[in-house]
Amino acid sequence: MIDIRNVTKIFKTKSTDIRAVDDVSMNVTQGEIFGVIGYSGAGKSTLIRLFNGLEMPSSGDVVIGADVISSMSKPALRKKRQKVSMIFQHFNLLWSRTVAENISFPLEIAGVPKKERQKKVKELVDLVGLAGREDNYPSQLSGGQKQRVGIARALSNEPNVLLCDEATSALDPETTDEVLDLLVKIRDEMNLTIVLITHEMHVIRKICDRAAVMENGRIVETGPVLKLFQNPEHSVTKRFVKDDINDEETALSFDEVRELFPTSKILKFGFVGSQSKAPIVSQIVKKYDLDLNILSGNIKRTNNESYGHLFVAIDVNDETLQKLEAELSDHDVTVEVEDQ
Ligand SMILES: Nc1ncnc2c1ncn2[C@@H]1O[C@H](COP(=O)(O)OP(=O)(O)OP(=O)(O)O)[C@@H](O)[C@H]1O
Ligand SMILES: [Mg+2]
Repeated sequence: MIDIRNVTKIFKTKSTDIRAVDDVSMNVTQGEIFGVIGYSGAGKSTLIRLFNGLEMPSSGDVVIGADVISSMSKPALRKKRQKVSMIFQHFNLLWSRTVAENISFPLEIAGVPKKERQKKVKELVDLVGLAGREDNYPSQLSGGQKQRVGIARALSNEPNVLLCDEATSALDPETTDEVLDLLVKIRDEMNLTIVLITHEMHVIRKICDRAAVMENGRIVETGPVLKLFQNPEHSVTKRFVKDDINDEETALSFDEVRELFPTSKILKFGFVGSQSKAPIVSQIVKKYDLDLNILSGNIKRTNNESYGHLFVAIDVNDETLQKLEAELSDHDVTVEVEDQ
């Protein structure tokens, strides 16, 4: 559905050239929710703006569906944007128009007759859960409700692709989750392809199928979300995953454990899916008659799987450790020895 080929975007300023997007290639398949994560200035907004021609690449091609965005005429591009729509962090609503009028606006521009517009607006108001608020002005709505208007407006021309630029970054965690649930619902109901950019790993974990990690204009790692969380390779990905687990306190207690039990090894068991609920660890402990200190653990959910890990301290020799690793790996549990 979306194919980005060796795209570079250079902004020329008086003093210097800024390579905001640097030789990026990626693809997004139909119906997928694809996340792009990176710290501030990584080039996320520039990248997503290339998708609908709000920015044009300095080199490379942006292909959406059958169209090469990077070589379309202005009128053709305006029409294409009805099918590749966008929502924003600060909603970008028209403040002097009501909820219904905001949602109706793109339909007016597209020349849809009034009766049809009214019908469509009602459908969309219901879809995003704003029934009863049609005549309110944006200033009368909460942040989450404003974003619902933004989503309804973006859907009015029945797009194939929805681009979300930090769509939940101005919202509190609970409202963020509600808006994310809504995005999943519309993806399922309308068979949309969604690309969202964010600096919150939680957003990626909760709804994305695959994600790419950006740093300095480049994609440094990409893959299925579960893979990125379980086995992050690049240092930036590792930092995001760590922030999501929030295990600063764990690191502290590791140091204490090493002092208390200098001969113990600290192991990290990794679980996926149903294994994360089975009593494998306790079975192993009994079988090998081990003394085991549980240091920390957690189970998190991605959009379709749970995954988790457990940090433990065990006093084992290398031979028993190998047996443990083999046995646990038969149960799809990974074992990593934490650095001393
Ligand atoms: N119109 C512009 N002219 C010059 N430089 C720009 C322009 N737009 C973006 N940049 C630069 O490109 C780089 C990437 O910016 P971009 O807005 O894409 O980052 P981002 O990842 O979206 O950051 P944030 O998380 O803060 O929104 C930055 O160094 C920024 O200053
Ligand atoms: Mg941005």
